[in-house]
Amino acid sequence: MNIHTYEKAWLIASMVLIVGFIATITYGAVGPGIAMIDDDGGSINPDNINDHEWFGEPGVTHVGGNEYEVAVVAQAWSYTPSQIEVPANSEVTFYLTSRDVTHSFTVVGTNVNTMVIPGQVSQMTVEFDEADEYGILCNEYCGEYHHTMEGKLNVVPEDEFDLTELSVEAPDEVQAGNETTINATVSDGMQTDLETTVTLEIGEQTLERDVTISGEGSESVEFAVDTAALGTGEHDWTVTADGHTESGTLEVVNATEGGDDSA
Ligand code: CUA
Repeated sequence: MNIHTYEKAWLIASMVLIVGFIATITYGAVGPGIAMIDDDGGSINPDNINDHEWFGEPGVTHVGGNEYEVAVVAQAWSYTPSQIEVPANSEVTFYLTSRDVTHSFTVVGTNVNTMVIPGQVSQMTVEFDEADEYGILCNEYCGEYHHTMEGKLNVVPEDEFDLTELSVEAPDEVQAGNETTINATVSDGMQTDLETTVTLEIGEQTLERDVTISGEGSESVEFAVDTAALGTGEHDWTVTADGHTESGTLEVVNATEGGDDSA
């Protein structure tokens, strides 16, 4: 049978297209770094999210090495936490669930995109090689303010990332001549050891204390403040540790006045 040359050319071209389509679909399904979200994450009772070990206190956890876990709760119309920070060169596993209706967790400009379903935990692991800023949004219609449901994912340079927290307990007022203390607690969310110096500056005084926090834990230091050297009046104080700062004011009042200004 004789086939016309043009007809032959169109036949071959359509064959090539079909093979091309099959190849793209296959690559999309099994290609490198492309995985479908399955039910690995397991299920959860949406009414008990607050008692759950991950979702009770959602946020970033250091697992070890360059591995991190991030638990996120979606609800109409926000994510908790809405600002996520992880370091570059990290492998991050996201665990997501919803408190109410079906949402999505979509990191704009990446292939991170999953439905977030009440009663289910969506799990996916992503590698972030370079520092960058990404928007997070919901692309499952979830109600009136669906279009406002968004968040931020900041991948920061490794040397700018830590999970250190500093909290300070200090009195507002002390009587002159009395001893007082300012207590600082440094907690380290990383599995690695943290060596840092906690510094208190108040008036002319600078007090320093070295702390070593092994693994994920916290250390407290107590600074004794010399109220006689400060003198009466208001004194600003600043506590710093590992690049974190807390500040406040301590008022030293005259003992005979007993803090009562009318005396
Ligand atoms: Cu949540 Cu749309």
